[in-house]
Amino acid sequence: MNIISKLAIAASLATALTSVAIAQDNLNGLTVGFSQIGSESGWRAAETSVTKQQAEERGIDLKFADAQQKQENQIKAIRGFIAQGVDAIMVAPVVATGWDDVLTEAKEAEIPVILLDRGVDAPEDLYLTSVASDQIKEGRVAGQWLVDAVGDADCKVVELQGTVGSTPAINRKQGFEEALAGHDNLTIARSQTGDFTRSKGKEVMEGFIKAENGGADICAVYAHNDDMAVGAIQAIKDAGLKPGTDIKVVSIDAVPDIFAAMVAGEANATVELTPNMAGPAFDALSAYLADGTAPDKFIITESKLYTPADNPQGEYDTRKGLGY
Ligand code: AHR
Repeated sequence: MNIISKLAIAASLATALTSVAIAQDNLNGLTVGFSQIGSESGWRAAETSVTKQQAEERGIDLKFADAQQKQENQIKAIRGFIAQGVDAIMVAPVVATGWDDVLTEAKEAEIPVILLDRGVDAPEDLYLTSVASDQIKEGRVAGQWLVDAVGDADCKVVELQGTVGSTPAINRKQGFEEALAGHDNLTIARSQTGDFTRSKGKEVMEGFIKAENGGADICAVYAHNDDMAVGAIQAIKDAGLKPGTDIKVVSIDAVPDIFAAMVAGEANATVELTPNMAGPAFDALSAYLADGTAPDKFIITESKLYTPADNPQGEYDTRKGLGY
């Protein structure tokens, strides 16, 4: 490569880096309201920490509101953010429905709204973008893992659903059922909400075990998140059975505790959900504020499958201390 080409590449690299820096810089000093669902799971705690850290790195003044699992608290918080005249609003919507009015109010106040990790049943023009995983795919990946693990054997599955009416509960159920379709040896015998919490996951699993011959008839538990899986693992152990062996355990999130369970041979598979929804959200906001660039309506994060073959101890060590 001659010197002219080298200089041209260096110059274009410098221009690109400068425009990234300028774009990032335009968030410095802005105020962003964040209505978080609560702290129902390890994953949720990590998302909160990462969001605060991402805001700090960009010089954003983040107004944080914990809704304690209640949509009415989220709506109140969003109205408060609008009244304060924040520059943007982020919301992790606890359930899918009931957002039209408050999102319309934000739109009328010309405040861009970004959805984090869950979706809403509302017209798409009421929010700037939605940063989330493909939750149907997460269910499919978990289901496909089970289909492959079980082969031709008969397998009675019990399902721990997430919060009723939330998009991850609806979509993860759908994706899992899609993966099992056509495999008549696999049946979902029981399905109930555990509200994404460890304690309810344990309680509901205890009921499943009682109803299914002390757990002897259960081949696998599918939990819509790792926290419920960890609760179910405890219930299986309390019943004198071996989680991961007598009852297979597959779930979603990839939090440190599920990797610890894999190390102990008590969990079989998880699908990763990154807690860093805020990074892509702030990047989209930055580009939008810089020159009106409309981001993709749906920014989809990755859904990677992890099993005990994927160095669970290493995954645990890497993730522990990241805010989970
Ligand atoms: O919306 C994402 C889900 O919410 C996570 O999988 C779960 O842990 C959390 O409560």
